Amino acid sequence: MAHNNTQPRYHNVEALRAAFPVTKHCTYLNHAAVAPLPNPVRAAMSKFITDRGAMFGRERRYETISDDLRGVLAWLINGTPEEIALVQNTSEGLNIVANGLPLQAGDNVIFCDMEFPSNVYPWMNLQRKGVKTRCIPHDGGGLTVEALERHADEHTRVVTVSAVQFLTGFKSDLPALGTWCQEHEAYFVVDGIQALGVAPVDVQACQIDFLSCGGPKWLMGPKGQGFIYCREELLDEILTPFAGCVSVAGWENWRDYNLTFLPDARRFELGSANTIGQIGLLAAVRFLMEVGIPSIEQWTLQLTDLLIAILKQHNYAIASNLNPKRRAAIVSFSAPGDVDKVFQKLTDAKVVVSRREQYIRISPHCYNTEEEIVRVGKVLGDVHQ
Ligand SMILES: Cc1ncc(COP(=O)(O)O)c(C=O)c1O
Repeated sequence: MAHNNTQPRYHNVEALRAAFPVTKHCTYLNHAAVAPLPNPVRAAMSKFITDRGAMFGRERRYETISDDLRGVLAWLINGTPEEIALVQNTSEGLNIVANGLPLQAGDNVIFCDMEFPSNVYPWMNLQRKGVKTRCIPHDGGGLTVEALERHADEHTRVVTVSAVQFLTGFKSDLPALGTWCQEHEAYFVVDGIQALGVAPVDVQACQIDFLSCGGPKWLMGPKGQGFIYCREELLDEILTPFAGCVSVAGWENWRDYNLTFLPDARRFELGSANTIGQIGLLAAVRFLMEVGIPSIEQWTLQLTDLLIAILKQHNYAIASNLNPKRRAAIVSFSAPGDVDKVFQKLTDAKVVVSRREQYIRISPHCYNTEEEIVRVGKVLGDVHQ
């Protein structure tokens, strides 16, 4: 399905808040860590638990959940359902990709020193095969084509990057990186977890070969459910590192023992699915699709614009890149003096954010309001007094 590129009007933020009981308890600005489950997600998961208790006949209601979920996820990133495999989390997906790529001793994999470890260890773990990793210095908070030009060589076979960096909120220039990879015959791998749900990502436009994403952050799904995207043309190029009872064609023929992998990305799925996780993620993605991802992006940028203005006013040192093209819904800043004191003040005021390294990280979603950002500003302003 084509993505809608017309300028969105904002969704109705006030109306949306009714779906988030968390708004009654605190100012929740921590979606880069984990999102609260919206009501429709909790309702769908609860219904399944009830049905699981009753069992007889009701299991059949859930037979198409995996297919439905692959369908909406494909829509979300402009791929096809056949290119989606359901996995537990980003780390699992990246491990499947890292161990499946036909890499040889002497090949190198490039990433920058801002990556979350999920996108580092799977590649370091290939050192046993003689594959080298090049962890290059970040350029303004993330990985750029200019940095790649400086550090890549003819043995660079993989470039792997977060669509949005977990600490700085740096939004990668995925189309430019994708073009670089295409021109240099390197696989382009993307960790999507800090982008999907809050920023549009189009795997085709960005020439992404593989993408891995967990559900519990901006997608607002439960923990333990994520997915990978594998470009269709590469399905036969990538090895299938694991084989489970549902990875093969004709898997219902239990004792055929015919190891012929499924023709699509479902070959990476191994056994019994996390049905409750899939139900939750399906409800969450449908909910976000209704709100509209471009609208969510614009609203969260407006909120973070306001936050940045307030931080500047109070002389906080902002670690996030302020170039509008590199901005996402994450803003990190360091606090003068004791960062723990600032964090504690925010906690005392029931403002939920993250402390990461020496930074405070704030990450609003679609239902947060400008009033909430102003409330945060008041606490931050008070710290200086
Ligand atoms: C960029 C990035 N990748 C991955 C993860 C987590 O990975 P997983 O889904 O394996 O828990 C995080 C969590 O903070 C992250 O920020």
